[in-house]
Amino acid sequence: MEQQKRYGHFDDQHREYVITDPQTPWPWINYLGNEDFFSLISNTAGGYSFYKDAKFRRITRYRYNNVPMDNGGRYFYIKDGDTVWNPGWKPCKTPLDFYECRHGMSYTRITGKKNGVEASVLFFVPLKKWCEVQKLTLKNESKEVKQLKLFSFEEWCLWNAATDMENFQRNFSTGEVEIEGSTIYHKTEYRERRNHYAFYHVNAPIQGFDTDRETFVGLYNEFADPQAVMEGKPRNSHAHGWSPIASHYIEVTLQPGESKDFVFLLGYIENEQDEKFEALQVINKKKAHALIAELDTTEKVDKAFAELCALWDNLLNIYKVRTGNDKLDRMVNIWNQYQCMVTFNFSRSASFFESGVGRGMGFRDSNQDLVGFVHQIPPRARQRIIDIASTQFPDGGCYHQYQPLTKRGNNDIGGGFNDDPCWLIFGTVAYIKETGDFSILDEMVPFDNQPGTEVTLFEHLKISMNHVINNLGPHLLPLIGRADWNDCLNLNCFSWDPNESFQTTENVSEGTKAESLMIAGLFVVTGKDYVALCKKLGKTDEAARMQKAVDAMIAAVKKDGWDGEWYLRAYDFYGRKIGSNENDEAKIFIESQGWCTMAEIGAEDGMVAKSLDSCKKYLECEHGMVLNNPAFSKYIYEYGEISSYPEGYKENAGIFCHNNPWVIIGECLAGRGNDAWSHYAKILPSYVEEKYQTLHKVEPYVNCQMVAGKDAFKPGEGKNSWLTGTAAWMWYTVSEFILGIKPDYDGIRIDPCLPETATDYTVNRKFREADYEITIHPNGQQKGVKSIVLDGKPVDGTVIPYAPGKHVVEVTM
Ligand code: BGC
Repeated sequence: MEQQKRYGHFDDQHREYVITDPQTPWPWINYLGNEDFFSLISNTAGGYSFYKDAKFRRITRYRYNNVPMDNGGRYFYIKDGDTVWNPGWKPCKTPLDFYECRHGMSYTRITGKKNGVEASVLFFVPLKKWCEVQKLTLKNESKEVKQLKLFSFEEWCLWNAATDMENFQRNFSTGEVEIEGSTIYHKTEYRERRNHYAFYHVNAPIQGFDTDRETFVGLYNEFADPQAVMEGKPRNSHAHGWSPIASHYIEVTLQPGESKDFVFLLGYIENEQDEKFEALQVINKKKAHALIAELDTTEKVDKAFAELCALWDNLLNIYKVRTGNDKLDRMVNIWNQYQCMVTFNFSRSASFFESGVGRGMGFRDSNQDLVGFVHQIPPRARQRIIDIASTQFPDGGCYHQYQPLTKRGNNDIGGGFNDDPCWLIFGTVAYIKETGDFSILDEMVPFDNQPGTEVTLFEHLKISMNHVINNLGPHLLPLIGRADWNDCLNLNCFSWDPNESFQTTENVSEGTKAESLMIAGLFVVTGKDYVALCKKLGKTDEAARMQKAVDAMIAAVKKDGWDGEWYLRAYDFYGRKIGSNENDEAKIFIESQGWCTMAEIGAEDGMVAKSLDSCKKYLECEHGMVLNNPAFSKYIYEYGEISSYPEGYKENAGIFCHNNPWVIIGECLAGRGNDAWSHYAKILPSYVEEKYQTLHKVEPYVNCQMVAGKDAFKPGEGKNSWLTGTAAWMWYTVSEFILGIKPDYDGIRIDPCLPETATDYTVNRKFREADYEITIHPNGQQKGVKSIVLDGKPVDGTVIPYAPGKHVVEVTM
């Protein structure tokens, strides 16, 4: 194997990934912010900020797919004599004497050194505050006095990130700013319908500023050599229209050994309609002043930072494992959980692959994300469930996406994705098992956010199940609608027009025979959960009704969903098999193998074992399991987008990491620990990090959505990092099925599935008001708990009954 260059390493003690070379194979980013104010930041300080919604409240501008890559961000220019440099290397790219970027839990610290000066910037969003802090520390490590000229830089976005990129006939005339002391205010459109503005402040006197981009940069210059910086002379420009920016100019003198802190604040403010102005056209700055006052000293900033770190200490204290395998422990204890929180916050909206303008929160995505963070912040999970259910329709169908700012269903995409309703059961059950809070089922939740339409959440779950039952096809399998989990398997779309979207064009439901085995498996899994829930609630008739539907589905899969060695994937519009040995290409698909093995359909007849073996034989490769095999080599009109991708990418035989865990869980349920582990380790970032930093390209500390599959031009190349259901599924898989610590209604079920090589390990799990220390002794077994001892007393069965307080548990396999 070719030795791959490394660009960084894990620092587990500080829960950081340390990047030591700025020229990573792709920008390696991090996320700041936890509730309302968010930022994306790359290892060279590129990226942008927004308030709640990356489309409608974009605060700073970012240009995707730019040349050079990742151009634009929060930049500090340091002019030391004739040398101009940035602590994050970009945009000047002046070679640094030292560079380091530490991505941590909701913060990033970038340090550069040049000619005896160290510049270190800590970026974070303080808890409950609408701002990004940039604490810059300048230190003179040389023996001479340093006279530095410091320029800050941010470029404002005109709020709506979509129109900001296209409506130039208007945009070039609307930009407005105000300058007051060391604060630059951005107030475009504030004079009319906006009640919000942004500001960029520094807690030091300034000797100049700029707010007009062309004046600062120069029309024929670039971010790498802004005229004002190169000449060491700010222009004190006022933006009127064109492109407003914010740049402070500060002259800094540093004695040998001396260091100085500067706190820069990028803030966002909302005012009530009748309190918008101080005077004609003068914005009311009261709230801005107050926010600035909360963070205007190093001490205040350090305190806010300590609070953020404490939050993460608490969040990561809820589930902690010690296996002795650093690569596993760091993913379970730090990065997997962190990625889950980020996907919860951002859904699929804003990353370096998702431009923040295209998509809101997904119905299915958000429900899946829930299992990744429900143990950490149950109240927010609860709210999320209610928000999601509120976008459902009375027949159980639902909007495929909703906008986070308004919480309204997204009309551009609409509904008709027939797997969506089942996910509501999945998310809700996970929430109740974690918290024991059955009261959520009594919450009154509207349809399509229409007041007056409220029914209980339980009713929403019921109609979700019914939606599947009411939409069965000729083989009594679920009709697929626009698509199931695989947004790109569009069996009712039939498009020859490249200007149409596969997802929203024509959902020919009249006469369709297109059925999905993926939904069939999902229905059985969530149906069993629903039945158990009904029994728990004493709703025995409803439990019996749904058990019948589940049994019927199992029978339908066995009869018409089995291809001999694996489960079929679907039937097309005309009722022809998809994912069958009879097909020329794409004979086998992963989704139905995952869901039908998770549902254990036909386990007693050997179907599960055969399906899992087929995954190993046909789907597995060095970098994980591909989605389908062989890849499609041509566009198939009846299949839609899936066949539009070149071989090995995305839904056409890419390794769609999201669905690998389904098969891994199938393996775990079947007790095949060695196989489960080997699939898992192939897509575990810490293992990839060690071997493939250059090939993989994207961030080595988180999962990406897709790794190019075995049929691709470059197998192993990763894409679409960060925002992916993979995060929650990897977490669910390892925490509950591999390590085997499973929240249940009445306690914690212990049911690990491990490779034979596993040694003793301990999990510290906080659960409701209890604190368990669980030590597992695998004894070379892959599956099967022999005995459990709770606080010195043997337990019957595999569930540790819930009781508040501290407990010690010993498990022997
Ligand atoms: C979407 C998911 C979808 C998956 C497979 C992702 O980009 O967010 O909702 O299930 O692609 O098509």
